[in-house]
Amino acid sequence: MQEPQTVKAHDLSFELMISEKEIQAKVEAMGEILQKKYKGKNPLFLGVLNGSFVFTADLVRAFGGTCEVSFIKLSSYSGLESTGEVATVIGLTTDVEDRHVIVVEDIIDTGKTMHDFLPTLKNMNPASVAFATFLLKPDAVKYKFPIEYIGYEIPNKFVIGYGLDYNERGRNLRGIYQLK
Ligand code: IMP
Ligand code: MG
Repeated sequence: MQEPQTVKAHDLSFELMISEKEIQAKVEAMGEILQKKYKGKNPLFLGVLNGSFVFTADLVRAFGGTCEVSFIKLSSYSGLESTGEVATVIGLTTDVEDRHVIVVEDIIDTGKTMHDFLPTLKNMNPASVAFATFLLKPDAVKYKFPIEYIGYEIPNKFVIGYGLDYNERGRNLRGIYQLK
């Protein structure tokens, strides 16, 4: 199916920024890098819902090796803006002690969500923690922490698709679309 160049979500128009084909190649490459790095370590991929459900599904299959997958649900966004308050909607139920954890994010914007979650995770004594994010907005980052695996760095513009939403719409788009 030919992917649309422009899409609408609620009242706003968005234009194609990263195509499905480019995304697939990128995620395959990230999976291979992770596979080399985590060979024989049975890493735990920890997806951050809702946004990362598509990326996590693709990344763990691109990884290919032995691994486990779990999710947490954190929320800080409403509409186009981060609220600055990070709520834990579904907490971590998997035992991460002595596990190699790879936190999987759809996008890191201000960094607040992950910055706030990191101490909670480290308190649970994982063997290691690394971050894999599909997108990063370098100009928006206010809270710094090491991000080991980055798909694309993008300008500070609102995007939807590939799991990302504008008020819950657009998550099922195959490409990444930026606000017009
Ligand atoms: P942060 O805490 O500011 O880094 O925000 C991270 C979360 O905000 C992401 O996991 C997304 O759910 C959401 N978010 C940030 N930027 C965008 C965007 O451009 N489109 C859709 N959601 C976004
Ligand atoms: Mg998210």
